[in-house]
Amino acid sequence: MKWIEAANYEEMSKIAATIFKEQLKLVKTSVFGMATGSTPEGFYKELVKAYQAGELSFAEAKSFNLDEYIGIMPNNEASYHYFMDENLFNYIDMKRENIHVPTGNPKEIATATAEYDAAIAAAGGVDIQLLGIGVNGHIGFNEPGTAFELETNMVELTQSTREANQIYFDTIDDVPTHAITMGIRTIMNAKKVVLLISGASKQEAFDRLRSGEITTDFPASALHNHKDVTVIYTGVK
Ligand code: F6R
Repeated sequence: MKWIEAANYEEMSKIAATIFKEQLKLVKTSVFGMATGSTPEGFYKELVKAYQAGELSFAEAKSFNLDEYIGIMPNNEASYHYFMDENLFNYIDMKRENIHVPTGNPKEIATATAEYDAAIAAAGGVDIQLLGIGVNGHIGFNEPGTAFELETNMVELTQSTREANQIYFDTIDDVPTHAITMGIRTIMNAKKVVLLISGASKQEAFDRLRSGEITTDFPASALHNHKDVTVIYTGVK
């Protein structure tokens, strides 16, 4: 695991964006794994800026997002579909058919999970996966206790995750109880992983990851078994 300390949020975002931009310049058909949340917002701004400056094109690239809430439709502002459109996809030239965000439609879940892994495999696998980390150590929506062997699946969200994500909803009761997420195995299959950690609320998760202990109680610790992980952090020490 490679650790890079950034001076501030902006620098963290720039370092991460540079890794993705270099990958794309090298391989136009790159497959990116994307994350939502407050941590990668600056990263997406950097990618949009680079595209608008004519520095690169996503026309042949593909993307697969980590997760989505169950029961929240793409036109809902709290959905991860909406987040990705607003932060990235509406502003770059990635083709719609190459953009993949797991479905949050409860009626589609039964088949959607296996289909998602099959689609990733058919695309040749993820070249670089971007991750944030939950205060409880979750990656994607793989909550503590999740088996490392799982591929894309439906999960029940913990109370701490629902509380952390309440900012995107009116009340805690509006926060979905379930989500669809790439499993830890799906994430581990990515050729390269870039994990962003930002802000004092993540200090405990940062310390635990740094300790090197590998346990299903702390899902991000699975990444110690991956051969190419870069952690870019700021606001923690
Ligand atoms: C988002 C995701 C989550 C977030 C994590 C941190 O797609 O999978 O694991 O990365 O909850 O969220 P923020 O960045 O909002 O602190």
